[in-house]
Amino acid sequence: MLRGWTSFGLAVLLLACGGNVPGGDGVESPSAAEHARAQAARRDALRDRLARTLGRSYDEPLPRVDSHERAKGARVYERLCAGCHGRSGRGGTRLARALPVEPGDLADPARAGFFSERAKLSIVAEGSPDTPMTGWQEGLEERTMIAVLDHMRTLVRLPARSQAGNEAEEER
Ligand code: HEC
Repeated sequence: MLRGWTSFGLAVLLLACGGNVPGGDGVESPSAAEHARAQAARRDALRDRLARTLGRSYDEPLPRVDSHERAKGARVYERLCAGCHGRSGRGGTRLARALPVEPGDLADPARAGFFSERAKLSIVAEGSPDTPMTGWQEGLEERTMIAVLDHMRTLVRLPARSQAGNEAEEER
């Protein structure tokens, strides 16, 4: 049932996007550099907004999960998320390449540290506005989302120095 909903959502998204890049001001194909700049600015703005909304809890780690929950998180990831993010988290799937905003390489330690864990939980629950990353709060319980994020942490290639936002320190 969830899967049906997901494919439907994807079909609508792909139709709705029609190859037009959000932020491209209606220009058919902005240069790759412009696109990358616009995406980076959008992600910075999203992080600022989440930092404001979450306040002090922005940097609080998520509760740890046991091995049983993590295994469940891995299964849910493969079923619902790997189509875009790839089993390895690196993206680059056929679907990912067809999207107007690519999921990027979530196994890259720099990328993995860009948002704090709490920020990622918000993104998984509510989605990343103006991107194909939709929110899952209608279909997944919060503890399942936490388990999926725990699994995703195991995909990061190198142990990042600190998962919980090296970068967040530069706010303001
Ligand atoms: C339709 C494709 C698609 C699916 C399915 C999808 N994602 Fe995403 N996801 C994206 C895209 C695109 C981004 C990048 C959004 C951005 O740049 O703000 C993203 C971003 C994220 C992020 C933020 C990390 C970052 O650095 O941008 C997390 C965490 C995430 N996804 C987790 C999940 C989880 C968990 C699932 C499954 C429950 C999932 N995604 C399913 C496309 C998808």
